[in-house]
Amino acid sequence: MSILKAVRGTRDLLPPETDLWNRIEATARAVFERYNFREIRTPIFEDTQLFSRSVGEETDIVSKEMYTWEDRPRAQSEKAQSLTLRPENTAGVVRAYIEHRLGETGQLQKLYYIGPQFRRERPQKGRYRQFFQIGAEVLGPPSAGSESPLRDAEVLEMLAAFLNQLGIAGWKLKLNSVGSSEDRLRYVATLREALAPVAAGMCEDCRRRAVSNPLRVLDCKVPEDQPIIAGLPRIWDSLDDASRAHFAAVCAALDACGITYEQDHRLVRGLDYYTRTTFEFVEDASTGQALGAQNALLGGGRYDGLSEAIGGPSAPGIGFAIGEDRLVLALQAFSQEKPQLADVYVAPLGDDRNPAALALARHLRDGGLNVELGDGLFRMKKSLETADKQARSVVILGEDELASGILTVKHFATGKQFKIPRERLVEELAVLLTPSN
Ligand code: HAM
Repeated sequence: MSILKAVRGTRDLLPPETDLWNRIEATARAVFERYNFREIRTPIFEDTQLFSRSVGEETDIVSKEMYTWEDRPRAQSEKAQSLTLRPENTAGVVRAYIEHRLGETGQLQKLYYIGPQFRRERPQKGRYRQFFQIGAEVLGPPSAGSESPLRDAEVLEMLAAFLNQLGIAGWKLKLNSVGSSEDRLRYVATLREALAPVAAGMCEDCRRRAVSNPLRVLDCKVPEDQPIIAGLPRIWDSLDDASRAHFAAVCAALDACGITYEQDHRLVRGLDYYTRTTFEFVEDASTGQALGAQNALLGGGRYDGLSEAIGGPSAPGIGFAIGEDRLVLALQAFSQEKPQLADVYVAPLGDDRNPAALALARHLRDGGLNVELGDGLFRMKKSLETADKQARSVVILGEDELASGILTVKHFATGKQFKIPRERLVEELAVLLTPSN
């Protein structure tokens, strides 16, 4: 029979790597909560229209990459519904904001999420079909200050704090403004006009995009096309005064707290809902090479018209999503997570000691120790070898120990043995296992 494997582009995450995932997620929760963000959990699948109306029909995500299916009606009265595994989570958060009328609180909503997303992309290092994002969104009615450039700067400053706290050595913040939706329409028209006479000399993708979605030409990485792209009009020149002032205010707030950034005129991003600020944090090629071609650790931006586009009230917002898989790759380049050892291995000698061993393990766990429980079916030699691989110390439970209540303990790092009365075991092990011993 053929062996079944995980589907291409999906992966199993195993220990000890999952320890690193948990450390990243715990750090994200701790940092985001310091900025007063709270968690939101939305469904993994949504009505397909949510994504076509927000991310945009013409985008690669919606036109090529979504996992979409028709849900069979269960009763004749029910209609078939087109459902999609979420390719991103901003749309779901904004849908929830509208559905639960969060805007009526009059307050800014600061929400974060951690979870899987799905895109049918060509798998490669750092690019998967099921991948994980850690994201956050700040949105609310304009009266709550949701359009303020200070919100953009605070989100960017929080990301810098998060990456620094995790120990990501080299990152670079790329920043741009794509202006209001009117600015963008103006720019797309200008770009289409500028591309018309030169597109024929560009790669196949660019020739197609020059007509269907000119902004995407700016993402092209084909070396021969770069001189042509460098000569195209810049979005900055299509921005109105209000958008320019907004961008300048974001930059001034970043300057005030010493966050460095680079303005990248080509950073227009691949989702249609963006307005004004867009950004990416990329791995700095001069200090890290862990990610290769997929070097965007995270991306985000402002989406002032998204709520209205899906039928909600005005709720400007800004947010980001971190590619957790890529963060893990970047961190693994610096250090491998060590397999975690238990504090104590309880080794019963003989299977009739097993019940007492379970009771002892329970006692030690109640005392806050991390315990691996052996089995009296194993001979002493095998128990000690296993204990040495899995734990920092071993407690032996034989007939004598059971009768006297005095237990034999071996501490592997020093090789020392001790006799400890059961009632003092938790206390003495805690001292023995403090890092300085
Ligand atoms: P995005 O740029 O499409 O933005 O994705 C954000 C991040 O998710 C990327 O920078 C990358 O690290 C990671 N990512 C995307 N696709 C894959 C993949 N196939 N495999 C591994 N990692 C991937 C968004 O999703 C927006 N919702 C971000 C946002 C939030 N904008 C405003 N709020």
